[in-house]
Amino acid sequence: MKLSQSPREKLLSNPPSELNTEELLAVLLDASNKKQNINSLSKELVDYLRSNLTAKLKVEDLLNFKGLEESEALQIISALELGKRFRFNREKLKIHKAGLGEFVCGDCMHGMKTLADDSVVLAFTSPPYHNAINYGDHIKKLEGDIHYWERTEQSYDYYKTFLVDRFKEMYRVIKPGGHNVVNISPVAWEGKRVALPFHFVCWMEEIGWQFKEDIIWEKGIVKDKRSGVLMQHPYPGYYYPSLAIEYVLVFQKSAGKKTENNIYHNRSAKEKKANEIDMEGYQEQSKNIWNIRPVAPSENIHPCPFPEELAHRVIKYYSYKNDTVLDIFSGSGVTNLVAEKLKRKHIGMETEKHYIEYGVKKIKNLKTTTRK
Ligand SMILES: C[S@@+](CC[C@H](N)C(=O)[O-])C[C@H]1O[C@@H](n2cnc3c(N)ncnc32)[C@H](O)[C@@H]1O
Repeated sequence: MKLSQSPREKLLSNPPSELNTEELLAVLLDASNKKQNINSLSKELVDYLRSNLTAKLKVEDLLNFKGLEESEALQIISALELGKRFRFNREKLKIHKAGLGEFVCGDCMHGMKTLADDSVVLAFTSPPYHNAINYGDHIKKLEGDIHYWERTEQSYDYYKTFLVDRFKEMYRVIKPGGHNVVNISPVAWEGKRVALPFHFVCWMEEIGWQFKEDIIWEKGIVKDKRSGVLMQHPYPGYYYPSLAIEYVLVFQKSAGKKTENNIYHNRSAKEKKANEIDMEGYQEQSKNIWNIRPVAPSENIHPCPFPEELAHRVIKYYSYKNDTVLDIFSGSGVTNLVAEKLKRKHIGMETEKHYIEYGVKKIKNLKTTTRK
């Protein structure tokens, strides 16, 4: 007697048997339950899924499928390139209005799917730190439920896919000529320093982003004790400089210089006049080393907020008043706060409601803007 085949066996049979939507989802769920990346499925299988999904499966089915976490569903949607023909219904998102802008609570992949193509002038963000911070646990600590929080272990490949999927989606929503500015640093992984910013540039270029600038954010204060190693062992091979900088990498979505849709070459004289940059302090800012004091723990509830000055420079150099500024990992909402002060529209996206509420409050407490 022939036993009935499992959905996965059906898919792997040659030629693959037809699967219904439920069965396809079961295979995807199985893959994600095993913490596999969709990319670990064979090319034939992914091709098969892609053609079948296009015909039969709606993105909403994936997102509403019981047992499949939203982030997993979004990863599958992205891997199968379903997202291109999909706009998520804005009504389903939790939106927190704040001044000229808003915060979207949830995965930014989800949030970006509500935005139209070519709708944002500037994105500025700092991605969640690979393996370093469990933000959910950090919130529990803030709320007094736990006393300490630990790292979350995830593979570097997983992290790469997470970032690439989201910056690919961002490329769709940024206007031609618009910029994507990312604050990022090397990370510790299995006892080694991993050159994340340098890998990141290659990943971004593969998506289509054009690399523009590598700005060094010099933080002045050094928290680690690396340089002490040479004091104890004053010999060659023991040099571990203390980490005093982070990178601020600038990318651009390409556009012809004089084309209609280049966001910088088609501003009216009146708009330029209204956005003229105050040159005070420019001598120091004219170099690609920015010395900016980091935020002290007593100044913000978030473990790694942007200093306002950093957001201020990025927003004033790359956007005009009334343009939309997006931060897809907005944390405590410093990008939104500074965008508000500079009279830009702003959208923050953040998974942790606690940080959003903090950001909204700060914007509501703002008086009037004085800086240009
Ligand atoms: C490095 S922090 C950003 C801090 C922010 N620049 C500030 O000024 O407070 C990264 C943030 O991304 C959030 N995050 C992690 N995964 C996310 C996702 N898929 N979508 C949106 N936000 C996410 C984390 O909760 C964390 O607050």
